[in-house]
Amino acid sequence: MENKWSSGRMFLLAAVGSAVGLANIWRFPYIVGVNGGGAFVLVYVASMILVTIPLLVSEIALGRRGGGDPITSMTALAAGGGLSPKWRSFGWLSLITTLTVLSFYSVISGWSLAYIPKMLAGLANKDVAHIQAEFVALTADPKAMILWHGIFMAVSVTVVAHGLQRGIEAAVRVLMPVLFASVICLAAYGAAAGDFGAAVTYLFTPDFSKLNFEAVLMAVGSAFFSASVGVGALMTYGAYLPQSVSIWWVAAWTAIIDLLVALLAGLAVFSIIFAHGLDPDGGPGLVFVALPVAFSQMPGGLIVGLIFFLLFFLASFTSAFSLLEPTVLWLTTRYRVSRTLAAWSVGIAVWVAGFATVFSFNYWKNLYPLAGMARFHESTIFNLLDVLVTNVFLPFGALTLTIFTGWRVSRLLLSDELQGAARPRLFSLWLTLVRYMVPLALVAIFLGNLL
Ligand code: PHE
Repeated sequence: MENKWSSGRMFLLAAVGSAVGLANIWRFPYIVGVNGGGAFVLVYVASMILVTIPLLVSEIALGRRGGGDPITSMTALAAGGGLSPKWRSFGWLSLITTLTVLSFYSVISGWSLAYIPKMLAGLANKDVAHIQAEFVALTADPKAMILWHGIFMAVSVTVVAHGLQRGIEAAVRVLMPVLFASVICLAAYGAAAGDFGAAVTYLFTPDFSKLNFEAVLMAVGSAFFSASVGVGALMTYGAYLPQSVSIWWVAAWTAIIDLLVALLAGLAVFSIIFAHGLDPDGGPGLVFVALPVAFSQMPGGLIVGLIFFLLFFLASFTSAFSLLEPTVLWLTTRYRVSRTLAAWSVGIAVWVAGFATVFSFNYWKNLYPLAGMARFHESTIFNLLDVLVTNVFLPFGALTLTIFTGWRVSRLLLSDELQGAARPRLFSLWLTLVRYMVPLALVAIFLGNLL
């Protein structure tokens, strides 16, 4: 059947493809760096287990029961339970969030594509000043960025337009093993040729003095984003999940593999960074400036660099499918247009929306729309979109989901989806987390962000 995953394993590959993305390869290493290493990692792991996994279970279960795009699913679930049709707004939030994320995600992913020919053209033989200048030149060139962002969108749309089994499944079946192999290669290289000991110490020795409230909130919020939870992407993937597959199994493995890839990528990046005496606190430019500097100084730097940027691209590419799918499915359901037309229309709209991010690095780099607010006095449109998604849309979406699941949806329905009768302890533990722990963490994120 074309409208189901061919197995639970295929769902898992696609869900891991969604989860493993820029948050693992690009964001995790630099936020760990900025927030002082081990203690941050500890909070990150704890919130993955206590907050993210319960949410993943909820989201996938609602998706499978709802059976459609987030708007259709929430409408059906609310109607079936005699609840207010307003719950449907989660669906709208989902479409807006996924498309907003994709609009900047694609621009950053475009950079990794641009770095592949740059590496081949000898970037790895240049000196530090040249490598820095190269990154500055790329971000100063809106035409180049629009081109790479366009290529990224076009290949993503092509996959999604081919449908679930012939598009997304076929792609992840080939790409995910390549992705795993490249991250393992890089970590092995880091262990063999880099300063692995320093990386391990840095990532795993907790320094609680650096762990303030803000860092905790950031860890929780980043774990969500990294596991793709709260935005309806995995809800949509869940709609295609065969009834026989255990949601506990796929949710737990999605989070575990996502975490492992982030740690492996972190180990690889920091082994290389430390071996070359570079600053781990490099911020967003870490992988585009510090790493190429390291590649330029190490044996086999060209190959390692190519593997790194390939990994970067694959990680975001397989996430992009899940960011497109909710809206594409909604358009084909609601307006009965073909999948091809739906995918290309969404792709072109997101490509154009992405110009706002592109210009945030050049024409509009001194444009701070919320300059009047102290906190945002130097935030570009791109920075604001990032904050809006990670600090507002995502936790708000997750909060809606958890309240809906924990307090509104019938227990019978949930127990039916999650084999609650066969696993009574696990089920009630999960329900307790979803009703109390998860909403508490989310409200804390909100309040914390407001203050
Ligand atoms: N999880 C992806 C990442 O780690 C981002 C993402 C969020 C993808 C939400 C889909 C939905 O980069």
